[in-house]
Amino acid sequence: MKRKIHIVGNWKMNQSISSIKTFFTEFNENCSKYNNCNMWIAPQFIHIPYLQEVTKGKGVVKIGAQNCSHVNSGAFTGDVSASSLKDLGVDFVIIGHSERRAFFQEKNEILNTKTINALNANLKVIFCVGETLEEREADKTKSVIKAQIDQGLANIPKNKIKDVIIAYEPVWAIGTGKTASPEQAQEVHLFIRQHIASTLKWNKDDVIILYGGSVKPSNIDELLDCEDIDGALVGGASLVASDFDKLCAVGNRH
Ligand code: PGA
Repeated sequence: MKRKIHIVGNWKMNQSISSIKTFFTEFNENCSKYNNCNMWIAPQFIHIPYLQEVTKGKGVVKIGAQNCSHVNSGAFTGDVSASSLKDLGVDFVIIGHSERRAFFQEKNEILNTKTINALNANLKVIFCVGETLEEREADKTKSVIKAQIDQGLANIPKNKIKDVIIAYEPVWAIGTGKTASPEQAQEVHLFIRQHIASTLKWNKDDVIILYGGSVKPSNIDELLDCEDIDGALVGGASLVASDFDKLCAVGNRH
């Protein structure tokens, strides 16, 4: 069964008001043609209102955040709550990106709290999992991902399961130019799908699983050809309007 393709741009700590303006001047021309593909972008928090403004009326690009707090309010200087994101009209939040795990020491337990908070605030969640090169070489890929899923996605309210998207992002493929081969990616995607069915009891055919890690116009086609890959979470290539456009055009065809 083919699920609707999602192409999600993770802009990380990049872009400026002027580069965003240029991006949408180019991208807005084509994007309304891609009805078959969900196009989402997560800019820096501070750029969210500007993206909402420049995409207004196009109705096709959804805007998200790259992180949110594990609590809803209080003395947490510098944090941004899921409810305040929802208040701003944000659609989704990325949780557990490997850069959050590595640079901000975010562990599965806190990522679970963030996920539940975000879902209760009526945001969709893209929950990221993935192994490091060391873990892959030690043949620990599946056990690492299993723990990330079992702990990070524990106790999700039943009525919120439909709002969770999983992103498989092998850490060794992020920003390195090394993409997992379609076979490597498909193997892990299938494992994730089977695992969430057997452990979490989610309906495996409904779960959207994105691949991330050096996705670009030249490799997206073969990745999306895989049965269990339902889209891509894209860093570098999503910053350039013409590349993002190509990714969405391919997504739209699948
Ligand atoms: P990349 O980043 O496409 O630049 O490898 C992907 C990500 O970190 O989500």
